[in-house]
Amino acid sequence: MNILLLGSGGREHAFARSISQSNMCSQLFITPGNPGTAQHGKNIPIGVTDFEAIKKCCLENKIELVVVGPEDPLVNGIYDFFISDSELKSIPVIGPSKDAAQLEGSKAFAKEFMLKHHIPTAAYQSFDASRIEEGLVFIRTLITPVVLKADGLAAGKGVLICQTLDEAEEEFQNMLHGKFGAASERVVVEEFLHGTEMSVFVLTDGIDYLLLPTAKDYKRIGEGDTGLNTGGMGAISPVPFADDVLMKKIVMRMIRPTIDGLQQDKLVYKGFIYFGLMIVHNEPFMIEYNCRMGDPETEAVLPRIESDLVELFFAVANEKLNEKKITISSKHCATIVLTSGGYPEYYEKGKTINGIDSINDSIVFHAGTELKNGELQTSGGRVLAVTSLGNTLDEALLISNTNAEKIQFDKKYFRRDIGFDVLNLKN
Ligand code: AMP
Ligand code: GLY
Repeated sequence: MNILLLGSGGREHAFARSISQSNMCSQLFITPGNPGTAQHGKNIPIGVTDFEAIKKCCLENKIELVVVGPEDPLVNGIYDFFISDSELKSIPVIGPSKDAAQLEGSKAFAKEFMLKHHIPTAAYQSFDASRIEEGLVFIRTLITPVVLKADGLAAGKGVLICQTLDEAEEEFQNMLHGKFGAASERVVVEEFLHGTEMSVFVLTDGIDYLLLPTAKDYKRIGEGDTGLNTGGMGAISPVPFADDVLMKKIVMRMIRPTIDGLQQDKLVYKGFIYFGLMIVHNEPFMIEYNCRMGDPETEAVLPRIESDLVELFFAVANEKLNEKKITISSKHCATIVLTSGGYPEYYEKGKTINGIDSINDSIVFHAGTELKNGELQTSGGRVLAVTSLGNTLDEALLISNTNAEKIQFDKKYFRRDIGFDVLNLKN
């Protein structure tokens, strides 16, 4: 069958690779894709939120399944667009409905959902411009640092961690006065949780779910988790400290109540749920939901899944996930992201990339690359993701680090310490 994948990053290259390995996939199309996805299918230059063009593409290419990578089309209602169109409604879309995608699209909605379904999370209140005074009073009750979150999608930039109450008060007002545009018309103010972050992913048909490999991503630009937040500088899977006891707590306190809550609230969800967690003294707290897989976590998670992904997608579409099992490799996976110097602030593009062809013991996923005059060049902040499997985390990291050195482009930067915080824990 023919399959359409939406997106253009490293996550989508990883999806394209896994989907194209399925016996069920005849032809894979990617909109808009990148030079990496083009190794596994046909790229078509259509934006991920151009639903009419996506419809045309589906009909022309006899698409029988749509897999959505990024959040934008989901929050904008691509699932509902397909269901309500007579020519598209028989084509399953892997992703939540627009209402359910609010778990990512609105932080206030997500927090209300957590509270309603008794899912442990940081204490919070949410405010709009009509309640500035109450917000300032609430901020004064918190211990620093204080976390401020723009309610809506803000391309990963809408969360501020304020070290003083004065800064929190000022930024709170800036946000309500349009710092992040419409995204910060409502602001969630919450307590800061001190702990270790990790990500858990499930694939759900809305009734049952399969637990995917755990992962930990490294969001800060600098080694030792310092400096500005980025989209993600690397990832490891599995998370060494996520033992059976912790995973049982996460299933009982987060995953099961979320799936049951979706059903109870009649939120249609057939896709991936990303649980962003903070582990505080071995107790899990929800930081955020995403309605899609993470990037770069996907690049470390999918290579460990041995099951046929397309088979699982059809089980999701047909609400038969209870009949499926997932096979996960016991190997460790380490992903290191190569970025353009200057990212996440200003960086140059159009740098020639060399050295990928010499690598055969890692998978090199493309994120921000383009082909120009037959030459591979940088075209984004996050350029490539180097993923390796190993019998231990140290081994996987060593291979990825060695190969990250071999790839060349002007002002290349990467963190050489991915996994540093868990390496001395059990492996
Ligand atoms: P979010 O977009 O909600 O995932 O927030 C972005 C990042 O901010 C998270 O990955 C955490 O590193 C940090 N963060 C968000 N909320 C909190 C919190 N309540 N306590 C500590 N760190 C937080
Ligand atoms: N790596 C974090 C995210 O995908 O949101």
